[in-house]
Amino acid sequence: MNSYEHYADWLNARNGLPKETRIGLVPTMGALHTGHKSLLEKARRENDFLVLSIFVNPTQFNDLNDYQHYPRTLESDRRIAEECNVDALLIPSEKDMYPYGNDMPIITHHPASQIMEGKVRPGHFNGVLTVVMKLLQWAKPTCVYFGEKDFQQYLLICELVKNYFLDVEVIGCETMREASGLPLSSRNQRFDSEQIKLAHRFAELLRSGSYDDLAAIQQRLEAAGLIVEYLEKHFGRLFVAVECHGIRLIDNFAV
Ligand code: PAJ
Repeated sequence: MNSYEHYADWLNARNGLPKETRIGLVPTMGALHTGHKSLLEKARRENDFLVLSIFVNPTQFNDLNDYQHYPRTLESDRRIAEECNVDALLIPSEKDMYPYGNDMPIITHHPASQIMEGKVRPGHFNGVLTVVMKLLQWAKPTCVYFGEKDFQQYLLICELVKNYFLDVEVIGCETMREASGLPLSSRNQRFDSEQIKLAHRFAELLRSGSYDDLAAIQQRLEAAGLIVEYLEKHFGRLFVAVECHGIRLIDNFAV
């Protein structure tokens, strides 16, 4: 596996690949876990050349503290990348990704960007779409892989690709979960062994009973001690964000 920090070095390697090479890109912010691994494994099966990018993108954080405390675990990420047979690891610095600052962002007004995560985290999707556009221009992949865990993000990236006529296939991947149904997330590691019980309870409560009465679900979650940020149905799915012991958890699934 080769690592690249600078566009010029990577471009040189990219240009050396045979023209018909199927390139799969998995964009991440690192702190890799089994959820990320499932994307890498799918991309590995479906492509000749597998590219993993790790970049903690400052423009998608609306909270500086959150950005500064985002886990950075490059050594263990490298091991996971090796295990998944990644061919090229892109690890640009902020200067490499934003050499001219953020003067040319992608700004979305798409209705799907105005609700839920878009409403709670103003500017978040502009940052995501801007960096994904950059990563697509760097890697020029045949296919790019995103998790349904962040379904709004996945949907908006599909819209980005359509609106800008980008020649790439966007592939959505199933959410990897704990036995309780709790989605795997780097945030789960922030809970201690007592706190994680409420996170699992959150997943279980979501899965008990019908999805017709959202107020009843909200009541169950709140009675258990969770703070509900939103609980909404869109696109045939139930979307939820809660605060659990001060840590934000999100989930969504088809209902
Ligand atoms: P990050 O949170 O690192 O997630 C990288 C990819 O892994 C995303 O597509 C996300 O949906 C997927 N993922 C996370 N947890 C998952 C799980 N439990 N099961 C399946 N897939 C999972 O999402 C981002 O980074 C950034 O916004 C990024 C797209 C890289 C732009 O900066």
